[in-house]
Amino acid sequence: MRTEKKHGFATRAIHDGQQPDELTGAVNVPIYLTSTYQQEAIGKNKGHEYARLTNPTRDALEESLCSLEGGTSAHCFGSGMAAITAMLTMMKTGDHVVCSDNVYGGTQRVFDKVLANYGLTFTYVDTSCAENVAAAIRPETKLVHIETPTNPMMAITDIRAVADICHAQGVELSVDNTFLSPYLQQPIALGADIVMHSTTKFLNGHSDGLGGVLVSTTEEQAERFRFVQKCTGGILSPFESYLLLRGVKTLAVRMKQHDANGRAVAEFLAGHKSVEKVFYPGLKDHPQHELAKKQQSGFGSMISIELGSLERANAFAQRLRLGFLAESLGGVETLICHPATMTHAAVGAEGRAKLGITDGLMRISVGIEDVDDIIADLDQALGG
Ligand SMILES: Cc1ncc(COP(=O)(O)O)c(C=O)c1O
Repeated sequence: MRTEKKHGFATRAIHDGQQPDELTGAVNVPIYLTSTYQQEAIGKNKGHEYARLTNPTRDALEESLCSLEGGTSAHCFGSGMAAITAMLTMMKTGDHVVCSDNVYGGTQRVFDKVLANYGLTFTYVDTSCAENVAAAIRPETKLVHIETPTNPMMAITDIRAVADICHAQGVELSVDNTFLSPYLQQPIALGADIVMHSTTKFLNGHSDGLGGVLVSTTEEQAERFRFVQKCTGGILSPFESYLLLRGVKTLAVRMKQHDANGRAVAEFLAGHKSVEKVFYPGLKDHPQHELAKKQQSGFGSMISIELGSLERANAFAQRLRLGFLAESLGGVETLICHPATMTHAAVGAEGRAKLGITDGLMRISVGIEDVDDIIADLDQALGG
């Protein structure tokens, strides 16, 4: 069930896909722990046959995420990587993909080390310059995949400009919206054909479950993703679907706070003597600040800082008392990672050097603790 279109984002996050249980009136969608469903007669069932195909808890979640991204259907997978892989599974040998050169390291790893073995080809370009995308498209290009802001350098790609380029050439555009969530960025409204997420991050919000989603805009895509779920089986479990539904209910309030805390922490870091450079689209000196203001409804809470050396980065990490040195992002707690040895280890030293990912770069996912406490912790960890 969907609420009326006029309802706001926070209302839809709480209600869409989640009407009270018909049997008991329970206001939360039950966790349907079943692998199969009794059928009334041969060929006659209640809409469910086998849990790899459909599960009512996952169905509710898919309806909810579809509504929030403004798509026509959504399909959930066991992780963000499973979702990305599913998106490419229906391609054929010889098909070509253009990808942002600064995506999550695991995305590039699955493209180059797994899918390239099946005859798919990939070209990486700096998509923050839309002309680079136009120049990289070939007759056999089927998909352009972008992340904006990029991970971890926070470069912004103009979604509408790239969508126009793709559509003029009959190519689909997918956007990894993990860093901002649909609360702060609506890629489909800007022309994207597919939105994907590692739901592990802001959508879940509590660092307690992996997941991934593909939101589509056409029945043909929905058919494709449904078929991949059925054939390859990398679906999200009922329990993790429930956790995600629960997380999404508070997405609007969490993202408001993440955004407010992110802005305050970025301003603080920009004025700190131990920080050589701050990468945050909300700062006026970010090269695409105006574009970020135009296509996003906030700047979010992902910030990268340059500390100058591995030694300084390590000293900072070890002095943290409140924030956690950890992979991942988007949780209620402040999480700080070292891209060179964590998210982008797989890219290799040469690849990192090209992207500007130094050994002194740290990425901060600002949580929703009291912002004064976050700032005090970062200040003491930076050496005051
Ligand atoms: C932007 C982005 N996309 C995709 C992924 C992969 O998602 P998962 O870890 O849920 O497989 C990540 C993981 O960090 C990510 O940051």
